[in-house]
Amino acid sequence: MRKAIIGGTGVYSLTTKPGGEGTATEGLIIDEKNVETRTVNTQYGAVEVDILSIGADRAEIVFLARHGKGHSVPPHLINYRANMMALKLLEVDQVFATCAVGSMREEFGVGQVAILMDFIDFTKTRIQTFYDGGAGIDSGVKHVIMSSPYCPSLSRAFKNQAKASGIDLKGEAVYVCTEGPRFETAAEIAMFRKLGGDVVGMTNVPECVLAKELGMCYSAVGIVTNWCTGIKPEKIELHDIGAALEKNKELITEAFISILLREKPAKDRLLDPESQRCSCASSLISIH
Ligand code: HPA
Repeated sequence: MRKAIIGGTGVYSLTTKPGGEGTATEGLIIDEKNVETRTVNTQYGAVEVDILSIGADRAEIVFLARHGKGHSVPPHLINYRANMMALKLLEVDQVFATCAVGSMREEFGVGQVAILMDFIDFTKTRIQTFYDGGAGIDSGVKHVIMSSPYCPSLSRAFKNQAKASGIDLKGEAVYVCTEGPRFETAAEIAMFRKLGGDVVGMTNVPECVLAKELGMCYSAVGIVTNWCTGIKPEKIELHDIGAALEKNKELITEAFISILLREKPAKDRLLDPESQRCSCASSLISIH
C-alpha cells in the first residue's frame, strides 16, 4: 500500500525547483531525481500526481496538488471524485492533507495551524459520493458513517509530531466548508460561529467524505491565512495569505512525511494491539 499527501492552496509540490536544495526530511533530500510525475486515468477523469521515492528502501509517497500544480482549478470545480479515485487506484490507504482556512476564533491566529476534528458542510453543488446506484464501485445504496470524519490515529500522530517539527499547532478545530469561490459575508461568519465552527475553508468537503467512502485513513491540517470576514477590522489581503502558507508549508509537509514513513499500513495497524485502532476502513453501511 502507498501513502499520500494532498497539497492545498500554496502547497503545489514537495520538492524545490531544479537546482534548489530540496526538502530535507529526517536527513532525506527530496529532489526532482526522486520524483516521477504520473497521469492516473479514472472513470471520473485524469489526475496528475507526483510519486516520491524516499530513503534506502524507496518508500513511495504520492503527492497530489488539489487545485492543480499552478492553482488553476477553483474550489467549486475541483474534480474531487477523480482525485480520490486516482489515489485509490494507486493503492493509497493513508492520506494527510493541507488546507488554507480563515479563522473565526482568537485561539487560531493568522500563521497558526489547526488539526481538523469535525466539519459542518455548507457546500451546495458538489457530488459527495461514489455510490450512485451504478454497476461498478458505485453499485448499490451505501451510507458512510461520519462519527470520526478525520482519522483519529493519523491526527494523533500529527499532534505528537507537531512540536518536534516546529509547527505552531493550536489544537483541534471544527471546519466549516463553504461553496466558494467567494469569501463569506460577516452575517454568514456570525452564524457559523454560533453553530460551533472555528475555521472556514472551501475544499475539505467532499474530499474527506470520499476518502472515507474509499476506506482510507484521512487527516487534514488547516493553515490559518486570514481572519474571517467581520472578525477583525482589517480586510483580507492576498499577501497575508501567501506569508502564512509560506511559513508553514515545508514544516507541515515534512511532518507528514516523517509520520507516513513510520506509520504501518492501515491493514496492519488493525491487527496490531500497540497501534491505536480506527474504523476508517469499515465506515460504509449498505442498505439492501
Ligand atoms: N473563507 C473561506 N475559505 C478560506 C478563507 C476564508 O476566510 N481563507 C482561506 N480559505
